[in-house]
Amino acid sequence: IVTTPTNIRYLSNHAGSAGALVVTPTGLHLIVDGRYTESVRARQESPDACPGLTVHPVPSSYDEALVALVTGIMDGAVSPQVGFEAAQVSVARHAWWFGALGRSGAAVALVPTEDVVERLRAVKDDVEIQTLREAARRLTGVSAELFGLIRTGMTEREVAGLLEGLMRQAGYERLAFDTIVASGPNAALPHYRAGERVLADGDLLVLDFGGVLDGYCCDLTRTVSVGPPTEESRRVHGAVLEAQQAAIAAVRPGVETSDVDAAARTILAAHGLAQAFSHGTGHGLGLDVHEAPRVARSSSQAAVRLEPGMVITIEPGAYLPGWGGVRIEDDVLVTDTGHEVLTSVPYDLRPHVASLS
Ligand code: GLY
Ligand code: MN
Ligand code: MN
Repeated sequence: IVTTPTNIRYLSNHAGSAGALVVTPTGLHLIVDGRYTESVRARQESPDACPGLTVHPVPSSYDEALVALVTGIMDGAVSPQVGFEAAQVSVARHAWWFGALGRSGAAVALVPTEDVVERLRAVKDDVEIQTLREAARRLTGVSAELFGLIRTGMTEREVAGLLEGLMRQAGYERLAFDTIVASGPNAALPHYRAGERVLADGDLLVLDFGGVLDGYCCDLTRTVSVGPPTEESRRVHGAVLEAQQAAIAAVRPGVETSDVDAAARTILAAHGLAQAFSHGTGHGLGLDVHEAPRVARSSSQAAVRLEPGMVITIEPGAYLPGWGGVRIEDDVLVTDTGHEVLTSVPYDLRPHVASLS
């Protein structure tokens, strides 16, 4: 039983806000309500059709339809078991399924699973790579236009508004996450969003944004200086850029994600900024803006090695409370022999000296 919306989309092409999917050894069963039956039917007659898909309308409730479908599929099976996505199903939903399966007399066991579809999604196919490449490519023009518009005296939210308009003009269907425009001391907060602070000369400005194109996300961060940068801004920016480039250079098949993280962390430590780097180096990118694999310090979980087709972000940062911060982020494809950086935006603290006034 697949209930995570992006996993349903990955397996069936159904991108609605509701739906449930049952995968058997021989086919896929998609349960959808009346809002989606017509669009699913039309897609099944198009080049985007999902092979082996049977569509089941929901007569009353999704969970009733799901239990009826599962008991029907399992009818006659010896020791029937059905896996569900343990990280996604609520306690209440599981309890309802458990009770209804018990009442049905089918003796179907519910087996928790984790990351079954997510592991498949971590390695992208050619169509996904083309989509991610195009999503990332469009950030080049958006960034150039944005850098030309930023002025002292604007609020962070005004900058976010300009950016979001440019993202729409570039053809993204939506934003991949809430835009981050963090100026001055706010730049010390890695997941700040955008507030009413007014940009002042000498501010560092962290711009972290991304869009969704045909379902796939891009995710970029640049840190620029509003007005001439201070010595400290140059120093911290230089250190983060060096760390980011070292981590990108480490990306190739077979390398553990924790070693990519360590490449960034070692450089920041050499600049006295070890404590200032308070998050992981990156994450997988795809239908979700944060997906497998994590690029972070080694943990008790099994090591993950990079494989060709993985797309990850590389985004170290340094955050100095009360002063500000720097983060630099690119999207990187793991290729057969190394990597390809999908995002192409200048790293300069002053990308348009004439306009970032
Ligand atoms: N803004 C979220 C991220 O870069 O991961
Ligand atoms: Mn980001
Ligand atoms: Mn990111």
